[in-house]
Amino acid sequence: MTEWTARRMKQLPEQFFTGLAGKVNMRVALGEDVINLGQGNPDLPTPSHIVEALREAVLDPSTHRYGPFRGLDSLRHAVAEFYQKYYDVSLNPDTEVALLFGGKAGLAEIPQVFLNEGDPVLVPDPGYPDYESGIRLVGANLVRMPLLSENGYLPDLNLMQSVQPKVMYLNYPSNPTGAGASSEFFAQVVDKAAETGTLVVHDFAYAAIGFDGYRAKSFLQTPGAKDCGIELYTLSKTFNMAGWRVAFAVGNARAISALQLYHDHCYVSLFPAVQRAAEAALRGPMDAVTTLRETYERRRDAFYELFEKEGIVASRPQGTFFGWMPIPKGQTSTQFADLLLERANVAVAAGIGFGLSGEGYVRIGLLTNEERLREAAWRIAKVYTATGF
Ligand SMILES: Cc1ncc(COP(=O)(O)O)c(C=O)c1O
Repeated sequence: MTEWTARRMKQLPEQFFTGLAGKVNMRVALGEDVINLGQGNPDLPTPSHIVEALREAVLDPSTHRYGPFRGLDSLRHAVAEFYQKYYDVSLNPDTEVALLFGGKAGLAEIPQVFLNEGDPVLVPDPGYPDYESGIRLVGANLVRMPLLSENGYLPDLNLMQSVQPKVMYLNYPSNPTGAGASSEFFAQVVDKAAETGTLVVHDFAYAAIGFDGYRAKSFLQTPGAKDCGIELYTLSKTFNMAGWRVAFAVGNARAISALQLYHDHCYVSLFPAVQRAAEAALRGPMDAVTTLRETYERRRDAFYELFEKEGIVASRPQGTFFGWMPIPKGQTSTQFADLLLERANVAVAAGIGFGLSGEGYVRIGLLTNEERLREAAWRIAKVYTATGF
């Protein structure tokens, strides 16, 4: 039989979250009360003024036609105003902003646009698994940067010298570790990237989720960052708009122009009504974002309290809605995640799913209410204690 599937499809890694969802569904089908903290799907609704903006826009027939290939001018302007207002970063809305069908789609495009087969590319390890997917599809040479707790989950930038990457991905606040990055670290990245000619892609998905007063800096606030980098910003987490599929890339004009060219050929931009709603999100009041951040902080505290009381080593994340917990010695992260599902009916993501340096950890998504999180912590702590942590 003729092989219809292209060879590059065989290069794709296993889709980690699909496997996890299958295991959880099996237990739920058995009637078990599973607390699913395995995924990263925001559980709260989009703020009502954004939903209202969509309702109004969808009733306007002009939004039913093809929009401009590069998106509505008004949305690209709203993006530039948002960056100016909240990050003090000036962007040219025509040359330094590209709209994306969600961050995930952007991550699939970036290797198509910037990487040739065999080009070296650095990715965080542990890191968001979808960086690898796009890179594998183009056959680039993926090199992992270990993120270790003793280094605050920041990579050793000497790797840039030895690998000479064409592209380097960073993500702070970090999924899965919950760590933030300092301005000094970003300044070092810019210096090295200038030496190595690297395009830095900073994934700022958790921009708005920082705790204990921590407010994450945009990479573009670093002097010189626009000479070497772009930043991806998604509305999924800041505004609970994961289902809407809106994100954008901002920064280096040469890189943004290459992304725009790809878009001109592959898509017409997002549904114009969704673009208008995105404008309402970016230009509108931020009270809902503040409330969301406070909600995640309370959830984090509700979850971690018990571990601290029981003397189980687990440090609270600085940002994101993930906990990154070291597991008892003598088990793999997959074994421990399976054990938590079997014995505690709590689903968590095994650290190995985020890269080799994720071994020894599990990731916990704090995406349910405080009461369920306290219950989950209690169930998890029992398994930790029984395994002699
Ligand atoms: C680190 C990181 N980057 C990007 C994304 C993609 O987000 P979206 O495709 O919803 O914009 C996610 C989603 O979970 C993420 O965790």
